[in-house]
Amino acid sequence: MTIRYDNRVAVVTGAGAGLGRNHALFLASRGAKIVVNDLGGAIDGSGGSTTAAEKVVEEIKAAGGEAVANTDSVATPEGAAGIIQSAIDNFGKIDILINNAGNLRDKSFSKLTPADFDAVVDVHLSGSAYTTLAAWNHMKDANYGRIVMTTSAAGLFGNFGQGNYAAAKLAVVGLMNALKQEGTKYNINVNTVAPMALTRMTEDIMSDKIKPLVKPEFVTPVVAWFCAEENTVSGDVVEAGAGYYGKVQIVEAKGTVLGGGEIPTPEEIQANYDKITDMSEAQPFHSANDAMRHIFRSVKPR
Ligand SMILES: NC(=O)c1ccc[n+]([C@@H]2O[C@H](COP(=O)([O-])OP(=O)(O)OC[C@H]3O[C@@H](n4cnc5c(N)ncnc54)[C@H](O)[C@@H]3O)[C@@H](O)[C@H]2O)c1
Repeated sequence: MTIRYDNRVAVVTGAGAGLGRNHALFLASRGAKIVVNDLGGAIDGSGGSTTAAEKVVEEIKAAGGEAVANTDSVATPEGAAGIIQSAIDNFGKIDILINNAGNLRDKSFSKLTPADFDAVVDVHLSGSAYTTLAAWNHMKDANYGRIVMTTSAAGLFGNFGQGNYAAAKLAVVGLMNALKQEGTKYNINVNTVAPMALTRMTEDIMSDKIKPLVKPEFVTPVVAWFCAEENTVSGDVVEAGAGYYGKVQIVEAKGTVLGGGEIPTPEEIQANYDKITDMSEAQPFHSANDAMRHIFRSVKPR
């Protein structure tokens, strides 16, 4: 059956360009009413204009869809509340939230200032948290919600010159991990996409050879799946780009017990480091409690 979003209301942050624009156009083409949010600023987040969001609204309307523009910043609690309120005021509810807005201030760590760090954390991490906070109780009361976070390979695996961005991008996975626990009983699913696509954010770092392969359109289908009523999964991270889709997961080694009840020395850690870091029997955990249980089972085998 074709997945559709009729009678669903979606907020897409940073939807004036790039990936967010594609997510918004696609959900609208399948029946969702959209709040197209975008500050309309430069890549570092400075400045702002109404045109980016309005242009996408015009595109959606021209294709027969329903949308309104919003130019609040996700990076303040008031701005984020305004974005969600725009969904309530215009369409009466909020079913879907795609946290996509993003900025960059790439610098090697020796040159990074606290202001550069905060500017990026404010948008990616605090912005995702503030919009989600503003939407959460509406979703809880409605017993329905689909939330998507946007992470990055830079945060999941590391990237030179992106200490601020990598920290913020992995932090949204932590936010998802907590919310998947809290949302399940209210039918609120929270999942995360790790995109790879040609946008203004990546045009300077991608070679001309790969540029035609990494259309933003390739990322949208997995985001659209996460937003579907049919999706019952919560807490997944999927990397997507150029037609590739693959789950990314944090796993823990089987581990080993040292010291026999006594405190081991650093030399014992050194001698056993291969065992500690042997990932051949690594496993994921659904929660911190599961990870704790694994430790106690290892220490006191039944
Ligand atoms: N393009 C990639 O390969 C890639 C890779 C990994 C992660 N991402 C993530 O995907 C998301 C979308 O990025 P993109 O590549 O489409 O870049 P983009 O620059 O085209 O889109 C980001 C949009 O967010 C908007 N924005 C910035 N700050 C905002 C704020 N405070 N409030 C509201 N809107 C704001 C910008 O105006 C811009 O239109 C970002 O979170 C980015 O970190 C992209």
